Amino acid sequence: MTAPSPARIIIGSDHAGFPLKEALIKRLSQAGETVQDIGTFSEESVDYPDFAEKVAHAVLSGSGSIGIAICGTGIGVSIAANKVRGIRAALVYNEETAGLARRHNNANVICFGGREITPDQAFDWTRTYLSSAFEGGRHQRRIDKISAIEASPGISGQS
Ligand code: RB5
Repeated sequence: MTAPSPARIIIGSDHAGFPLKEALIKRLSQAGETVQDIGTFSEESVDYPDFAEKVAHAVLSGSGSIGIAICGTGIGVSIAANKVRGIRAALVYNEETAGLARRHNNANVICFGGREITPDQAFDWTRTYLSSAFEGGRHQRRIDKISAIEASPGISGQS
């Protein structure tokens, strides 16, 4: 028996992103995408770093999966997801940034502001991101530099 293939899209949100998450899952599922919902599952107040971290870890453990993280602005989940080594989370806020997040940044998580955009925008921009391809070349060099920052010890001993 073969193991089930991982969902292509891992999605999670806090309470502020919950309505957009629900609407986006519906649209993506209707479009034939496999979506794994890691919560939250209501509008009861929760903390966005918990869900950004869950999306990030699920993306890193599922080959070929990409993540969608949603909070009120998209900023909190972006900051939190980018703390996980190996994650490149991009705040997407229009059609152009949806494509560039993949073409230039090879983002493996895209972030949306649930209080800022409509479900139709989120769906269209997700489709644009999914259908775009990483361009490599000079962009790979820049991503390698991001990886080097991740691997560096950082600044210690400062008072
Ligand atoms: C929650 O009220 C809100 O602060 C959160 O969803 C997010 O926008 C933080 O960046």
